[in-house]
Amino acid sequence: MGDAYTVLIVGGGGREHAMGWSFGRDPRIRKIWFAPGNAGTAQLGTNLPFAATDVDGLTRWAEKERPGLVVVGPEAPLCAGLADRLRAKGLRVFGPGADGARLEGSKSFCKELLVSEKIPTAKAGSFTDEKEAVRFSTSLPCPQVVKADGLAAGKGVVIAETHEQAAKAIHEMMADRVFGEAGSKVLIEEFLDGEELSVHAVTDGKNLVVLPGAQDHKRVGEGDTGLNTGGMGAYAPAPKATPDLLREVKEKILQPTLAGLAKRNIDYRGVLYAGLMLTKEGPKVLEFNARFGDPETEVLLPLLETPLWDLLGAAADGKLRGTTVRTGAGAAMTVVLAAPGYPAQPVLGQPIRFGQGVADSAVFHAGTKADKEGIRVSGGRVMAVTGWGSNLENGRDRAYAAVREICFEGMHYRQDIGHRALRKSVA
Ligand code: AMP
Ligand code: GLY
Repeated sequence: MGDAYTVLIVGGGGREHAMGWSFGRDPRIRKIWFAPGNAGTAQLGTNLPFAATDVDGLTRWAEKERPGLVVVGPEAPLCAGLADRLRAKGLRVFGPGADGARLEGSKSFCKELLVSEKIPTAKAGSFTDEKEAVRFSTSLPCPQVVKADGLAAGKGVVIAETHEQAAKAIHEMMADRVFGEAGSKVLIEEFLDGEELSVHAVTDGKNLVVLPGAQDHKRVGEGDTGLNTGGMGAYAPAPKATPDLLREVKEKILQPTLAGLAKRNIDYRGVLYAGLMLTKEGPKVLEFNARFGDPETEVLLPLLETPLWDLLGAAADGKLRGTTVRTGAGAAMTVVLAAPGYPAQPVLGQPIRFGQGVADSAVFHAGTKADKEGIRVSGGRVMAVTGWGSNLENGRDRAYAAVREICFEGMHYRQDIGHRALRKSVA
């Protein structure tokens, strides 16, 4: 077993900075490495020169340095089998193997599991032949949803208002391969109407603990308009995620999913993140992710009172039974600061100016890079600025106060994060 209380966090976004921040608040933690990290994580620990998907490089490094725990942030290395490779070397890893990560990496695998376990989800068909896909699409009312089967960085989903739009999306995915191999298979599914909710559970493959419900804001513009993004802000707990609703999600969705994985001999240790639509008929699964959400992590971790080391370590060891999660009574909100032109064509390289820190807030870096002159923009989502307090209004006020202390050329962000819960914008 590796050196106790040392952690390798794989990834370099706001989610990984937030995890490092959370580990860093635990006085027992002696060392944190990030691969590759960003300018913010460099202030908490050591950034390693490995891409998150460099499975060989990371495996060689971890075998030599033997960190006490490895936490894999993004989906790509999980789907590429990083957790399997590290476990084979006797390391403690939080994150499913490639078999479990298919829940996120293959929408048709996910749908097959949901249907066979009778878990509520949109009706769908999956196709490798374009003509058959179009025939099925024509038989389904519009709007309908066309999805590339594989990983497409959150972009492989088209909501088609007409059958012509659906046929065009099918052609672009299957014939033109606009999402590469991810589009060799497509899923066509019924459109679900309602409000979206992210529910994260930490699991050791047998037991699971459910974290507070969170809401993301996927569209770039105010009032949920404009292009889809990786997420422009989030808050938790979402008022819609009542204890009764979370119990229903645990019993009807999360536990049957775990049972379905176990039936397929998949030992799943990591995050089960259900992207749900709250429909009139109850919560239905839109997708599963095999890792923490980004920016949801940036609001969930500041609320978490249970040390991350204890929670993720117990899941990695298969010893989650009896573990409970304690979260604070308050609420948190995070606002993503984006580069100009994001998400279509972000403009990068501009210097970032930081003012005063604000109490009960944290600035989690994502697309940032340090050089001799300071910190510069290096990615579309530049930072996630989180505020927390006794209620969501306090969290929002602190988050936006902290945002006002940061500036770079062309910076943009949504003024209305939390509008569903707060019913009015702060603008
Ligand atoms: P996914 O990657 O499957 O979560 O899809 C990305 C986004 O597309 C979701 O967050 C929803 O906003 C939307 N979406 C996906 N599937 C559906 C559906 N069946 N009905 C309505 N919206 C959907
Ligand atoms: N917040 C959306 C995601 O992490 O996929």
